[in-house]
Amino acid sequence: MDLTGRTALVTGAGSRRGIGRETALLLAERGTAVAVADMDLAGAQATVAEIEAAGGRALALAVDVTEEQSVQEMVDRTVETFGRLDILVNNAGITQPVTTEDMTTADFMRIVQVNLLGTFLCSQRAVRVMRQHGYGRIISLSSVSGKRGGGVYGGSHYSAAKAGILGFSKALAREVADAGITVNCVCPGLVATDIRKGLSEERERAIWETIPMRRPGTAREIAAVIAFLATEEAAYITGEDIDINGGSHMD
Ligand SMILES: NC(=O)c1ccc[n+]([C@@H]2O[C@H](COP(=O)([O-])OP(=O)(O)OC[C@H]3O[C@@H](n4cnc5c(N)ncnc54)[C@H](O)[C@@H]3O)[C@@H](O)[C@H]2O)c1
Repeated sequence: MDLTGRTALVTGAGSRRGIGRETALLLAERGTAVAVADMDLAGAQATVAEIEAAGGRALALAVDVTEEQSVQEMVDRTVETFGRLDILVNNAGITQPVTTEDMTTADFMRIVQVNLLGTFLCSQRAVRVMRQHGYGRIISLSSVSGKRGGGVYGGSHYSAAKAGILGFSKALAREVADAGITVNCVCPGLVATDIRKGLSEERERAIWETIPMRRPGTAREIAAVIAFLATEEAAYITGEDIDINGGSHMD
């Protein structure tokens, strides 16, 4: 599980209790230099401060994953600083609890842009760099909502975007397998992060009742699977998606 000498880029890693920050911290703990990118630069800087305080190497970057130029600059800065890019974690994501009937076209487009277009743009730019070294690990955050619909706090646009990430990842996995690059997804169920803000305690408890383990997952539990997929040992896993949901959905 040692990742010494590797370089990672984690998007959406500025959120205080988020999966991205926990992933950046864990990758750094295992020896990776980490580019911590987020729309919230102060949040990214806070993650970097935590990594550096623990003796790791990190770089804070401002990015909007829906903007081509911004994504290109993020990848360029990462490579300029660390010399290469081995691991990309497409974690930046947003959701919105709204029914299809109430959804505007702008709502739909925004959710698809951040989750799906962002994953495409970041993966495309990362693959161009990874190919040069003949090595790469791309891990994207899908969701249980992308498989079964009915996101806890997301609408049909969120399910569509997260399902799109699964299809995109399988297609990309086939394209880049011969370049030593693997492309996989993780599909968390309910995870205790700030993405839940707006969800009442009552509603959250009701959701717990539908989970065989009767609790939400922790960001660390998601980060641990991402970190495994980032290892050299996971070289023969590609086009795969791993459910991490306490048993709430099994396929
Ligand atoms: N928390 C859950 O229950 C859960 C479940 C399944 C999947 N996921 C997925 O996991 C990922 C992380 O979720 P989280 O719960 O840690 O969320 P979070 O809200 O805590 O963090 C998301 C981060 O993404 C950043 N971001 C948003 N839009 C961006 C953009 N355009 N460009 C760059 N950064 C942007 C935000 O600033 C934030 O820091 C998301 O893709 C989410 O859909 C979360």
